[in-house]
Amino acid sequence: MADSSSSSAVESKPLKAARASTKISLTPVTANNLGTVRKLNSVLFPIKYSDRFYQDILLPEVEEFCQLAYYQDVPVGIICCRIEASEKAGEGKLYCMTMGVLAPYRDRHIGSECLQHVLKAAASYSRLRLTDIYMHVQISNTSARRFYERHGFRQIGLQERYYKKIVPRDAWVLERPVTQGEFPD
Ligand SMILES: CC(C)(COP(=O)(O)OP(=O)(O)OC[C@H]1O[C@@H](n2cnc3c(N)ncnc32)[C@H](O)[C@@H]1OP(=O)(O)O)[C@@H](O)C(=O)NCCC(=O)NCCS
Repeated sequence: MADSSSSSAVESKPLKAARASTKISLTPVTANNLGTVRKLNSVLFPIKYSDRFYQDILLPEVEEFCQLAYYQDVPVGIICCRIEASEKAGEGKLYCMTMGVLAPYRDRHIGSECLQHVLKAAASYSRLRLTDIYMHVQISNTSARRFYERHGFRQIGLQERYYKKIVPRDAWVLERPVTQGEFPD
């Protein structure tokens, strides 16, 4: 926080982003940090995730797709995706179940880093060819929609009454392709 308030008004966005990214680190969700993941989810989302959800995000095949984000040493963000097989043999899609960054830590490129990590890992995933990544976004969440559109997502559907316990209940379905070589090392 101190960093952004002390930034010069003329400092360029790429420079600020580069500096922010040196403070961001990602680590896979494991049994050891699952308590932190639960806490972040409970603060970030108005949905209580099931025990099954917490078992599935520990599966070895989703290690690169379920990541905890730290800003310096503080756990502040989470992205959790699952793999879904497509009808076409050998192909699949990633479904983003949760993605969020604690409010005081937003706009520091943490969400972008999480998404880029997952997209890069998806492009090099060897068990299946992962063609796309998609997610549901509540139709009131215009800032998340804008964020995802900046990252190449497009609306491919509107699912009515998708949410059972929160309003509005409808969700946009947003998707983008997984592209080889988009994020080189
Ligand atoms: C959506 C969400 C995950 C984005 O995370 P984030 O860490 O704030 O994302 P980033 O910092 O990478 O980018 C956010 C915005 O800041 C801008 N930004 C990023 N780094 C920046 C920088 N260094 N300087 C200035 N602006 C910057 C981005 O361009 C982006 O702008 P936009 O909102 O107009 O698209 C976060 O807002 C969030 O947790 N929201 C609540 C939970 C939620 O809605 N999750 C999605 C539901 S599926």
